[in-house]
Amino acid sequence: IELCLADGTPWMRLTGWEDKRFDVPSHLHALILTREDATVSTDWPDGAASYAGSDWLACRAVETTISSDHAFWKRVWARRVLGRTERELFAALRLPDNRQLEWLGGRTAAKEAVQTLLKRHFGLDLRPADIEIGIGDEGQPLVGGPWVSLVGEAPLVSISHTNGLAVALAMLPADGRRAGIDIERVRNRPEGYAEIAFDDAERSLIASAPSDAEWMLRGWCAKEAVGKSLGTGLRDGPRSLAVVGIDRASGRLEIERRGRLENHDMARSMRFIADTALHGDLVSAVTVG
Ligand SMILES: CC(C)(COP(=O)(O)OP(=O)(O)OC[C@H]1O[C@@H](n2cnc3c(N)ncnc32)[C@H](O)[C@@H]1OP(=O)(O)O)[C@@H](O)C(=O)NCCC(=O)NCCS
Repeated sequence: IELCLADGTPWMRLTGWEDKRFDVPSHLHALILTREDATVSTDWPDGAASYAGSDWLACRAVETTISSDHAFWKRVWARRVLGRTERELFAALRLPDNRQLEWLGGRTAAKEAVQTLLKRHFGLDLRPADIEIGIGDEGQPLVGGPWVSLVGEAPLVSISHTNGLAVALAMLPADGRRAGIDIERVRNRPEGYAEIAFDDAERSLIASAPSDAEWMLRGWCAKEAVGKSLGTGLRDGPRSLAVVGIDRASGRLEIERRGRLENHDMARSMRFIADTALHGDLVSAVTVG
């Protein structure tokens, strides 16, 4: 291969090269398209089934596993969806490779969910890199970008990932409401997990459900989702949020604040509803309130 100047003088000659074929992972095909509306994430109605038809909310999911040429595709992916500051954050992450991809997947799902809402409600046509997801003091994702002044207030997002899947929920801010999402795979949990996560009253409430392990996990995800919606996560321990009601038919759990968490952001409710569901081996919980 020779690169020549306009007058035909050779400027660079490449020799001894070999062909290398980079197969595009099917779920990342959007990364190589020039079409503006190509997205990496897909709609994930399962995650917010109880809010089906709510046009102020969007939920997206991304598969994060890359089976070949994974370092190359990770770079391409980060370049396509992250803004400059986010790329610095990404480069500074001290996480194993699979977690880096989940971080990227969560951000991508969140950006594309926000993109959907902004297009739908304000006719704004933004690219994922225009939608910045910063990190708050407690680790919570915060949406920003120069476009925020055009819409008044940035949409709110919540992110979750587990073993090769990342999901995100975005909602338009209204009435001080916040959203939280959490997903987990049904698998064996460490011994003693139930005793740490739930008090006696919660355990007896959950144990009356037909499948303990699944409902324990629904309870756990519901707590994580509510913790995220409060912006605190479970920093005060899993018992700072308690399962106080279960409706098995709908999967709806009632979660109450306990201990120090009762004094956090007193303007918000003390009780939250979390909608939980089982999709194959995946449990999800979503709360909006
Ligand atoms: C933070 C926490 C809610 C994450 O839940 P998890 O089930 O372990 O992991 P998930 O994949 O479901 O969620 C991770 C996402 O939650 C979000 N998150 C983290 N802290 C959050 C908070 N305080 N509020 C809302 N969302 C938060 C982030 O977006 C994170 O994804 P990212 O790191 O890729 O951006 C949970 O680990 C927790 O409560 N930990 C205890 C408190 C803690 O250690 N905080 C760290 C402060 S920096």
